[in-house]
Amino acid sequence: MRFSKLTSRIAGRGAAAWDVHARALAAQAKGEDVVVMSLGETDFTTPDAVIDEAVRAMRAGDTLYTPIRGQARLRRAVANWARTNHGIAVKEDGVAITAGCQNAVFIAAQLLLEKGDEVLVLEPMYVTYEASLRATGAILKPVACPASQRFHPDMAAMRAAIGPRTRAIFLATPVNPSGAVLTREELGEIAEIAQKHDLWVVSDEVYAELVYEGSHLSIASLKGMAERTVTLGSLSKSHAMTGWRAGWAMGPDSFIAHMFNLMLCMTYGQPGFVQQGAALALEREMEFPAKLREALRRRRDKLFAILSPVPNLTCWLPEAGMFLLLGVENSGLTSQEFNRRLFEEEGVATVDGGAFGASTAGTLRLSFAVSDDQLEKGGERIRHFAESLLSGEGVSCPHLASN
Ligand SMILES: Cc1ncc(COP(=O)(O)O)c(C=O)c1O
Repeated sequence: MRFSKLTSRIAGRGAAAWDVHARALAAQAKGEDVVVMSLGETDFTTPDAVIDEAVRAMRAGDTLYTPIRGQARLRRAVANWARTNHGIAVKEDGVAITAGCQNAVFIAAQLLLEKGDEVLVLEPMYVTYEASLRATGAILKPVACPASQRFHPDMAAMRAAIGPRTRAIFLATPVNPSGAVLTREELGEIAEIAQKHDLWVVSDEVYAELVYEGSHLSIASLKGMAERTVTLGSLSKSHAMTGWRAGWAMGPDSFIAHMFNLMLCMTYGQPGFVQQGAALALEREMEFPAKLREALRRRRDKLFAILSPVPNLTCWLPEAGMFLLLGVENSGLTSQEFNRRLFEEEGVATVDGGAFGASTAGTLRLSFAVSDDQLEKGGERIRHFAESLLSGEGVSCPHLASN
């Protein structure tokens, strides 16, 4: 039977990137000793008060259909948080609740892009972006954030990529996988470009609460940007709530009105008890992300300390998020080979950085959000594997660690 052309637009690198991860989960299920450093998820569990609130809501009967754009309580909580913590001038009506930030990325792409449009995307980019954006028929124009600039955007390349068919700029800050936090200067320049060329900006801020160096800035808070920015987020990372699928989009009224129509025929609202728990997380559990941030900062530093002295590896200290990029170009193996052999010989699962874009080719993305024990075990195994390549193959390269 025939499928639509959409099926080929949504298949690609994103789907293939998870091969080693899938093998690792299968091995783990069989009881094998593997360290899974391939996922953006912590060993923390959702705060008890959030779970209690969801259970309370469920028992109280919040198990029926809910308003398409989300319950007023959660929309209000998101708006209050965005205003207070990130200076975005948004009210409850400017927020719609989605099934995680991923759902919001897909919705934003559908509402802003169409066949033949061009969309600038900061690269490296989160793996699902390519399929989400290409699903619309739009053409992706990646804008490099090279390692030589510590994975911050090449603004000259961004200006050069703009053409008559450019409609939007999609970015994430902080970035997955590099952890780069876009600076005020960079966001100011992007804002100026967007205004000059009349472009939408979609800003994915799912890691906004997990920043270790510098500080997070929402581009929607800059002058003249509220009317052309869609800001996306979720509780997945900040509150260890990946499985709840509690996310949102914030934007101008016209955008939210179109969202209503799309969500009406797509999800028909999110579970009420999930929204009640999510609202409580934002209303009363904002100490949780601070605790998580400190634990992750410590783990980031520990992993960096284990790997940065290894002579044939390159480490960049991430400014935010849950991942450390590890350059393996001086190991004598490609990143794909390193990734596969690391799993097969040492039982450590990571993701090949090439899946996120050309700027991270030759790297592996390691999650430092795993437990302390697993982190140490995984880090030591990676070090052991890299050092065995040095002695086994006689490769000797200068230490390139840039930090
Ligand atoms: C940059 C980025 N955006 C969106 C998502 C999806 O998040 P959610 O669980 O809220 O759908 C992720 C998940 O890892 C991510 O890294």
